[in-house]
Amino acid sequence: MPPVGFIMTNTDIGQTIRLEDGRTFTLRALRADDLEALRRAFLRLTPEEIEYRFFYRSRELPASVQAQVRGLDPARDAAFVIDDRGEIRAVADLHAAHAGAREAEFGLIVGKAVSGHGIGWLLMQRLLGEAKRRGLAALHGSVRADNDRMLELCRDLGATIAPDPDDPAIRRVTFTP
Ligand SMILES: CC(C)(COP(=O)(O)OP(=O)(O)OC[C@H]1O[C@@H](n2cnc3c(N)ncnc32)[C@H](O)[C@@H]1OP(=O)(O)O)[C@@H](O)C(=O)NCCC(=O)NCCS
Repeated sequence: MPPVGFIMTNTDIGQTIRLEDGRTFTLRALRADDLEALRRAFLRLTPEEIEYRFFYRSRELPASVQAQVRGLDPARDAAFVIDDRGEIRAVADLHAAHAGAREAEFGLIVGKAVSGHGIGWLLMQRLLGEAKRRGLAALHGSVRADNDRMLELCRDLGATIAPDPDDPAIRRVTFTP
């Protein structure tokens, strides 16, 4: 169940979501022409948010993300964003190594301006729905062991959480959609 006060209505490009404080956003699929908005969104992130999501500090949108957006391949990629009148506030994405793969990796980032209102939970739900629609057997993510909030969110959504055999500072999170 979405948090109390979370109202959603369908529109042509996605869904309008209304937070309990009255703010409204559009939850929609990422498009290749979102690259500039993503670059701006990245500049608004704190170094800690960037490190939690990408595991290193960077001043600009990582080249791997730019390449992924430019070459969005519907057979391997799916991503959803929270659009705030042209500014992107949050992104959830999944990426499979090749078309037809039964497993994919996911990532999630919710900027401070909108965090703490259930948006992370909502985006993960949307991503899990997409993974199910694609027939994926597993959706994996790497989460820092000290990222209690993300680990709790994933646990609440039914993920299993295991140590990463290669890195004690990382947990491997697995959903079976
Ligand atoms: C971690 C992160 C994604 C959380 O985003 P968020 O939008 O603040 O998340 P939510 O508001 O959905 O919060 C999670 C909360 O939902 C709770 N929740 C669990 N089940 C829920 C449900 N059914 N309905 C509503 N909320 C639920 C979680 O337990 C947590 O509770 P809390 O607010 O009481 O602490 C965000 O802080 C972030 O982007 N951090 C930096 C990047 C990162 O860590 N990415 C993860 C690595 S991939």
